[in-house]
Amino acid sequence: NRLLLVNGPNLNLLGTREPEIYGTETLDDVFAMATAVAREVGFELRAFQSNHEGALIDVIHEARGDCDGIVINPGGLTHTSVALRDALTGVALPFAEVHLSNVHAREPFRHHSYLSDVASCVIVGAGVQGYEFAIRRLAALLR
Ligand code: DQA
Repeated sequence: NRLLLVNGPNLNLLGTREPEIYGTETLDDVFAMATAVAREVGFELRAFQSNHEGALIDVIHEARGDCDGIVINPGGLTHTSVALRDALTGVALPFAEVHLSNVHAREPFRHHSYLSDVASCVIVGAGVQGYEFAIRRLAALLR
């Protein structure tokens, strides 16, 4: 019973990056909270962040046979990456797409996601709590 938490480009800057949009909690804070929530619902959490598209794709491939579901905030790759979409559909694991900010209230180029139509659920604008909702939802689906 394991979930993979994936964060894409620039999310390593969480806490200091545009805090008025993304909040002041750091990625380490997110990992700690997410690990606790996952444990509560009976899952071990594996966490990974990279600024590199290929590294994200590799870790998604490695999740096949090792994890039961994926929580992913793909950062800017959300709006550009067919390859990330293909990785997620390729491993055929249920995944939750999370965005800290309400992407629909922002620039038009953030309104389209290459992942949303193949995601199990999409959570936007809930801040770091979105990761918690995503973990709980995947756990419920996988139970
Ligand atoms: C984001 C939204 C994306 O548009 C942006 O490129 C990010 C973060 C979010 O969590 O709100 O890097 O995924």
